[in-house]
Amino acid sequence: MKTGILLRCLLMAEGTQTKIIKVLMLPWLGHGHISPYLELAKRLSIRNFHIYFCSTPINLKSIKEKLTQKTNSSSIELVELHLPSSPELPPHYHTSNGLPPHLMIHLKKAFELSAAQFSVLLQSLTPDLVIYDFNQPWAAEIASSQAIPAVEFVIIGAAMVAFGLHLMKNPGEEFPFPEIYLRGYEKRKMLQNQGDKDKILQATNHSYKIFLLKSCREIEGKFIDYLSETYDKKFVPLGPLVPEDLTSSNDDDRDKEIMEWLDQKEKSSVVYASFGSEYYLTQQEIVAMSQGLDLSNVNFIWALRFPVGEEENISIKEVLPDGFLDKIGNRGKIVKGWAPQAKILKHSSTGGFLSHCGWCSVMESLMWGGCGGIPIIGVPMHSDQPVNARVVEAIGVGVEAVRDEEGNLLGEEIAKVIRMVMVDDSGAEIRRKAKELGETLVAKGDAEIDNLSIELAQLCSTEYSK
Ligand SMILES: *[C@@H]1O[C@H](CO)[C@@H](O)[C@H](O)[C@H]1NC(C)=O
Ligand SMILES: *[C@@H]1O[C@H](CO)[C@@H](O)[C@H](O)[C@H]1NC(C)=O
Ligand SMILES: *[C@@H]1O[C@H](CO)[C@@H](O)[C@H](O)[C@H]1NC(C)=O
Repeated sequence: MKTGILLRCLLMAEGTQTKIIKVLMLPWLGHGHISPYLELAKRLSIRNFHIYFCSTPINLKSIKEKLTQKTNSSSIELVELHLPSSPELPPHYHTSNGLPPHLMIHLKKAFELSAAQFSVLLQSLTPDLVIYDFNQPWAAEIASSQAIPAVEFVIIGAAMVAFGLHLMKNPGEEFPFPEIYLRGYEKRKMLQNQGDKDKILQATNHSYKIFLLKSCREIEGKFIDYLSETYDKKFVPLGPLVPEDLTSSNDDDRDKEIMEWLDQKEKSSVVYASFGSEYYLTQQEIVAMSQGLDLSNVNFIWALRFPVGEEENISIKEVLPDGFLDKIGNRGKIVKGWAPQAKILKHSSTGGFLSHCGWCSVMESLMWGGCGGIPIIGVPMHSDQPVNARVVEAIGVGVEAVRDEEGNLLGEEIAKVIRMVMVDDSGAEIRRKAKELGETLVAKGDAEIDNLSIELAQLCSTEYSK
């Protein structure tokens, strides 16, 4: 990969590729969206692109801290988007991170009301291209009105995009890939959540010629092809977009303690349990998870999160079943709040990831493993996670711990799947596939971004016509 960059610099120096392409990026206002957009920005910024990274001041503040640690950030320019302020939504709430749920509707509205300012920004910055997110048809319309091509980039996988578009456009018709489906309780949850449907469809429609996905052919090739065949554009995978520069972050005492604990365990003997930064387990789920980890007899680290503001006041001992901590002793470690996921996955003692199957976590499990990809025990919670869990199982790098018909987690099932994926002979093929796929993805580096650079350069060099 280093040689690739070097080669490109030499080519640029010789003047073969001199025109710098200016790209304005506008992700949705949450960390889960901003982070993959920023990974894309970093990769494009070392490939002859200048990036205007556009978000609210409160979001840009946290990006600034991340960017100053890097040296090569001069071609990423942060651009403030000011949402109209209102009594309900002061500027520190101009982000979906930690936003009280009842204010979400105000945030979405305020974001749309910033369209006029967005238009002025485009006029003054005159980018060659706009990259916008799933719920912003207005951003594409404004770009189009100024003859600037705009392409959509979604942070979810191709199977989810294909399945979601199919559900919205052809409800009632069967999805052509039977391995992707929803269970009864998952369907009921999904149906409650269709508020943004029209906006999502419009945004998809507006994407100019191509459509960008956080995906790769090794995982979702057939869904990527299906999308390009079914909808009138080329669907372009951008690769896993997993952050690279984590080794520099300094150890705090708690991280050190976790690493020392891992050091004592045998190779691939620990399951790491974490369910994302936006989901909190219900009491039923906490109890089932404890049972599962207990019955599995496998070493574990469990990152147990609670909502901001409540976390300080909760005692782990009180939410866990009586006697659980004494029973597991040194076999398990429970971490309240945030855990150093990269370091844990990279440690050679870690041999399984009990995960909600958030799309980032799936990629991280494969790419951050210390000795190749780490197999997944899937416990999907909501949104795209059930579909991701089906993908993980279909490509053979993990198994889902299935819930009962009401959607309750089952301790015995969790224990059974942990043992299968990590210990039993029946899971050997899954462990092998995960390891191998992880190695393939790491070796491939940013091949997708090299393709994307060519794709975008072509898009910007031809005459724009809507
Ligand atoms: C998307 O575009 C197609 C064809 O141009 C059109 O028929 C359809 O109504 C559009 N859908 C939306 C939601 O704008
Ligand atoms: C947490 O405890 C502190 C100190 O007892 C208290 O001031 C605060 O209101 C509590 N927070 C919540 C969310 O209960
Ligand atoms: C890059 O593009 C070429 C030509 O279209 C294709 O064969 C190859 O699979 C692409 N590579 C990746 C990693 O997507």
